[in-house]
Amino acid sequence: MTSYRFARRLGAVPPSFLGTLFAVSADPSVISFAGGLPSPAVLDADGIARAASEVFAEFGPAALQYATTDGHRPLRAFIADRYRRRLGLDVTAENVQVVNGSQQCLDLFAKCLVDPGDSVLVEAPGYLGAIEAFSLYEPSLVSVPVDELGPDLEVLERIVSGSRPKFFYAIPNSQNPSGLTYPDGARRAVAELLDGSGSLLYEDDAFGELFFDGRPREPIMRRLPGQSVLSGSFSKVLAPGMRCGWILAPEPVLAQFNVAKQAADLHSNLLSQLVLMRWLETHDLDAQCRRVATYYEQNCRALLDALDDRCPELGHTTPEGGMFLLARIPPGISSLALFEEGVRQGVAVMPGRPFYLEGGDDVVRLNFSCVDPGSIDEGVARLSRALRALRG
Ligand SMILES: Cc1ncc(COP(=O)(O)O)c(C=O)c1O
Repeated sequence: MTSYRFARRLGAVPPSFLGTLFAVSADPSVISFAGGLPSPAVLDADGIARAASEVFAEFGPAALQYATTDGHRPLRAFIADRYRRRLGLDVTAENVQVVNGSQQCLDLFAKCLVDPGDSVLVEAPGYLGAIEAFSLYEPSLVSVPVDELGPDLEVLERIVSGSRPKFFYAIPNSQNPSGLTYPDGARRAVAELLDGSGSLLYEDDAFGELFFDGRPREPIMRRLPGQSVLSGSFSKVLAPGMRCGWILAPEPVLAQFNVAKQAADLHSNLLSQLVLMRWLETHDLDAQCRRVATYYEQNCRALLDALDDRCPELGHTTPEGGMFLLARIPPGISSLALFEEGVRQGVAVMPGRPFYLEGGDDVVRLNFSCVDPGSIDEGVARLSRALRALRG
């Protein structure tokens, strides 16, 4: 028997729940609020197909070549220009690097910043994909609780002034998993608190284009320009499978990031970048974002109404955008038990534990982007039956 001597860092990654989730999602009789995919109803397959054929007509084999590490320049310029116009950020194409989905930023950023044992701040609850990506670099992860008021500023201040963490990873817009959005005051306070502290801010803006009211929220980066990075992605609004995201950062950070990116994969998928650029030249991205946000808003409202109606014992967040909400379950019931009983009743929810460094068994995440709108009420009726069964 071969004994595989894997690197110690793999042991630092928390166990993933994804295998169980995929098995559940594959069963068509289960109504699933457990996943996290964008709805196929809003993915513009025809538009992307036309863009792809135009790209081949124009570029031929050049569309299949190797390319530069920092990304297709017109796409970088488009992204920078959009941040300048929409959010008032003082950035150019030089501040943008394209990555294979914003998930890659999490990995490469941590690779550039984190030595084993370094302190890194994550939200509680926080994005499980980030906890996973950072863990591979063996940091000392520290939680900052977040709620409707934003991050707990006392905790943030204490840790920032104490252990001088390398960075604070935050999702101020319609967070995954909670759907929470930082109020404007919390954004200002985070910027003030970090300013000059020696800790960077990593602002993950995966959902900033999906506010139901269409109003962009001010990125914290605007108040902390030299000390923050921001990541974004076309995944949630256009085409997750094309794996096209970006990092926006001060040039000294990008120079290091570029080294890590080159070593990891030379460059992001050129064909995806060319096709996306063509789509952007021939379509209205704002209109597409409105379409997606409106579809998700309707699902979110249906889910909130069904929860208030059928499961009043569940407290829940009220998202202003995005794809998720978090529900708090009554004392005495664990989220894992609710998951298991839910599956018996034909509904799946995501247990809270993977979103926390500690605890989290008293919440579940519900996704509303990828559930069939006609099944939402029935799904919540099943959840209510599962809660009743667990209360005995
Ligand atoms: C908060 C957050 N950040 C980053 C990602 C990664 O997305 P992508 O790599 O598709 O851009 C996700 C995916 O669900 C997410 O929820």
